[in-house]
Amino acid sequence: MNNVLELREVCRDFTHGVFRPRTVRAVDHVSFALEKGKTFGLAGNSGCGKTTLSRMICGLIRPTSGSILFQGKEITAPGRRVDRSYHRRVQMVFQIPEASLDPSMRIRDSLLEAMQIHRLGRNREERMERILRALAQVGLPEYLLARYPHQVSGGEGQRLVICRALLLEPEVLLLDEPTSMLDVSVQAHIMNILRDLQRELGLTYLYITHDIELLGWISHTIGVMRQGQLVEVGSREQIMEAPEHPYTRELLRSYTDWEGAAL
Ligand SMILES: Nc1ncnc2c1ncn2[C@@H]1O[C@H](COP(=O)(O)OP(=O)(O)OP(=O)(O)O)[C@@H](O)[C@H]1O
Ligand SMILES: [Mg+2]
Repeated sequence: MNNVLELREVCRDFTHGVFRPRTVRAVDHVSFALEKGKTFGLAGNSGCGKTTLSRMICGLIRPTSGSILFQGKEITAPGRRVDRSYHRRVQMVFQIPEASLDPSMRIRDSLLEAMQIHRLGRNREERMERILRALAQVGLPEYLLARYPHQVSGGEGQRLVICRALLLEPEVLLLDEPTSMLDVSVQAHIMNILRDLQRELGLTYLYITHDIELLGWISHTIGVMRQGQLVEVGSREQIMEAPEHPYTRELLRSYTDWEGAAL
């Protein structure tokens, strides 16, 4: 097996309050691996620790204990800080486009700046060429480059965020509910783009959502989280067709009931 990223017994605590501090364990002994070129879908209800987990993987916060390995090397080793190249290779695709595109800058300038920071491309021409290629990869027209982030639609914004990530030639994308605010047809379109990019570029995805039904469409492996713990991991077929853990069954049932009610 070709694992790009591996989590071993990862925990993360948060402490609230100054006088009577209370510690909450947001992520509790979570272990799983991301296989190269595949999608790992992580499902679980609000507050179960999904975003905390992805923030640890991309190096924004450190685990309280446990380790995270990227291509066999521990990124969480004591004293070690993740470097710029790690932030380029393992990228978070945020829920909100505003988090990765500067609202006060034209989209073209934000994208050029991202490339400059990572020292990609020898000059402006080369960078522009690369930007146009990435824009085409996500199916967006060139004229959007002259706009500001508030002048694009939600679906366009989400594709721009993916475009920005692609510019930096990532290996792993952490997709945290990237399409939850979009309508179903736009959501499906973005899923197709992600699937094509994965095939073309061999990208590895961690796809995070509360919508387990959606994961049934796009994942190779699915993990189910509940109150900080990973309660079940299995192939898409196993989780969707023969879930073992009662909580996985409950999540699947709530979607079936909802669909039934909508008919
Ligand atoms: N910086 C923080 N400080 C204190 N507590 C935090 C912090 N970040 C998250 N938490 C707590 O950790 C738990 C997990 O939060 P997290 O954001 O990871 O959940 P989630 O699964 O992403 O939820 P959602 O589906 O709503 O996005 C919650 O109880 C949350 O209040
Ligand atoms: Mg979250």
